[in-house]
Amino acid sequence: MEYFEITGGTPLHGSITLQGSKNAALPLMAASILHPGRTTLHHVPAIRDVDVMIEILENIGCTVQKDNGTLIIDAAKAEHFEVAASLGERMRSTIILLGSMLGRAGRAKMPFPGGCIIGMRPIDIHITSLGKMGAVFEETDGMLCAVTDGLCGTRIHLRFPSVGATENVILAAVYARGRTRIENCAKEPEIAELCRFLREKGAKIEGEGTSSILVEGVSHLRDSTYTLMPDRIVAGTYLFAAAATRGEICLEGMRPSDMESVLDVLGRMGAVYENREDGFYLDGRKAINPLPVVCTETYPGFPTDLQSQLLATLCVARGRSVIRECIFEERFRIAPWLNRMGADVTTDGREAVIEGKEHLSGQMVKAQELRGGAALVIAALMAQGITRVYGSAFIERGYEDLAGDLRKLGAVISKKKAER
Ligand code: UD1
Repeated sequence: MEYFEITGGTPLHGSITLQGSKNAALPLMAASILHPGRTTLHHVPAIRDVDVMIEILENIGCTVQKDNGTLIIDAAKAEHFEVAASLGERMRSTIILLGSMLGRAGRAKMPFPGGCIIGMRPIDIHITSLGKMGAVFEETDGMLCAVTDGLCGTRIHLRFPSVGATENVILAAVYARGRTRIENCAKEPEIAELCRFLREKGAKIEGEGTSSILVEGVSHLRDSTYTLMPDRIVAGTYLFAAAATRGEICLEGMRPSDMESVLDVLGRMGAVYENREDGFYLDGRKAINPLPVVCTETYPGFPTDLQSQLLATLCVARGRSVIRECIFEERFRIAPWLNRMGADVTTDGREAVIEGKEHLSGQMVKAQELRGGAALVIAALMAQGITRVYGSAFIERGYEDLAGDLRKLGAVISKKKAER
């Protein structure tokens, strides 16, 4: 098993360039199968989830060329509109292929996402919405099967603004007959990215970034080239790491307009920041204030994907903080590991109370999922002594080179292999 070994206590200092966004890359790659031609994507992050998605696209019959952050996907010969169960186990978000498979071929087969370490992953909103458009679902051998003899545009009101369900309905609506109006849809920047990308390909979409999106069906798309947005969750992870270590960093390529709630939290902690010509600069030397309460919310609220990183950072704030997790029900799994490092975190259902400590101490800890794993690395960076964070593969699902980036910022971190 591989792990990160970190010697804590060095304030981060320096500048790095941000990777492309995971949560934009996956739906855009899924969208590429709609068009029986070429899609070129630049600034694609070199992460495990992207590799799994490439494998899925190749199994469908696409050819995928990968070269230094660029993917050229040719979906002309796509014909097996299925995701193997084994690939579903390696990536939960295969459900994102449902809308584009139905749109392109009128059929889809894939594993159910199932529960995972951060909570249940129900798909009722995906099913109900695509059902309203004319898809019929059944379960065969534990797999989700969908067919349609033609999707039709209609008015769809999502009971909750699910990111994945919004993306699936948009993808299904691109070729659907007539107009699809999606109400109470998600407003995340990655949704807007998907809409912009699809428009470049010839789709007719408006309203992204608001809670009502309108898609007018078209009969064909065209070849296109698109450069992905920076990853706002990776950016937030590094900003919290800078605040936690009382460091000063500059992130090249960050889009602060996508991160207002995160910057507001960092500001309330005492960090000072500025968007400069060469990148986004954050001075975390005085980021010591506790926070009375932070709730995770849908965008533009504080993102659940940065909750664990904030939790780790608050472990050394000067007083008591409270975090309320309102999106995924099981997202405090790192609390026992943080406490093992000397933190004082008490969880009760969806709430965590954090009593700030003077310092944390190096320990052996284990990542169990992507963002929690990154949060343990943050804890390790500020701890006294050496920490080993096992389960580095979880972190590599979403971070291109966490250790390399942190080393550029002066951290003492390396990846090692455990001897059996
Ligand atoms: C996406 C992101 C993930 C992020 C999440 C919330 C990708 C690849 N993943 O996941 O990183 O944490 O948004 O910002 O973009 N729900 C239902 N029924 C459904 C669908 C969702 O009850 O049919 C619930 C979920 O259980 C969860 C909440 O809605 O409690 C949010 O889920 P959703 O927005 O769908 O997240 P994902 O698209 O899975």
